[in-house]
Amino acid sequence: MNNKNNIHIEDSVEAAAKAAADYWLACASSAIAERGAFHVAFSGGSTPKHLHRYLLMDEYRRQLDWSRVHAYFGDERMVACDHADSNYRMVRETLLDHVDIPAANIHPVVDDVLLAAHEPASAAPMLAARYAERLEAQLPHNDAGWIQFDLVMLGMGADGHTASLFPGTSILDDCTNSVVAVYVEKLKSWRVSLSFPVLEQARQRLLLVCGKDKADVLEKVFSPTDEQDYPVKRFARRIDSLWFMDKAAAAKLGEI
Ligand code: 6PG
Repeated sequence: MNNKNNIHIEDSVEAAAKAAADYWLACASSAIAERGAFHVAFSGGSTPKHLHRYLLMDEYRRQLDWSRVHAYFGDERMVACDHADSNYRMVRETLLDHVDIPAANIHPVVDDVLLAAHEPASAAPMLAARYAERLEAQLPHNDAGWIQFDLVMLGMGADGHTASLFPGTSILDDCTNSVVAVYVEKLKSWRVSLSFPVLEQARQRLLLVCGKDKADVLEKVFSPTDEQDYPVKRFARRIDSLWFMDKAAAAKLGEI
């Protein structure tokens, strides 16, 4: 493992996912010990499934009181909760449906009834506002008055996006709202996402980035370029943002 400051490089995606799961568990254990609860925002896409598999293993399960865990979502697509593209569905199917987390502790972004009754362009802002209210009610606040997650899990797309903070989108400049509805032109779709300030205010960030298709953009993320081009770059050099990569993704990082 190459542990340079905040970057952990492992031989394989499974080894990277295990190292990330160990860190996830450490964050959960300290939050519960210190504050009685663990408020975690899950990321979407496919990479997190590798991490979820470890959290389901007995050696992890028996170290965590899931009744103390509150599960949120860093971003969500404007689809029903049972849709194949739903991040909520992915996290439930690969983790939350298989642990003893109370239903009241799972906080989805999408309300299916509201989504079915409105076009995505109308539903997204409404769901963002409702989610922001829910987070305000559920989460602790830091000294600056921002809601504060114990841990935010993040991935990275091949264009350097994280959560639904895509290059060139309006959400990148939003420093006021905690949850934002954003139209992603390249995807021709609406998303609801946590904003940069909320991601930055979290106590810790866990970025799990694996696969050779991420190598080119990771090289740019960790080299001096305009952060506007690669939103995830904002977390590249923060010691409280731990990156877990496999060698394939880290292939072009050289000596960092
Ligand atoms: C989403 C995710 C997104 C994801 C990256 C990486 O809704 O798509 O929140 O930010 O983390 O696109 O996805 P993979 O892990 O599938 O490469």
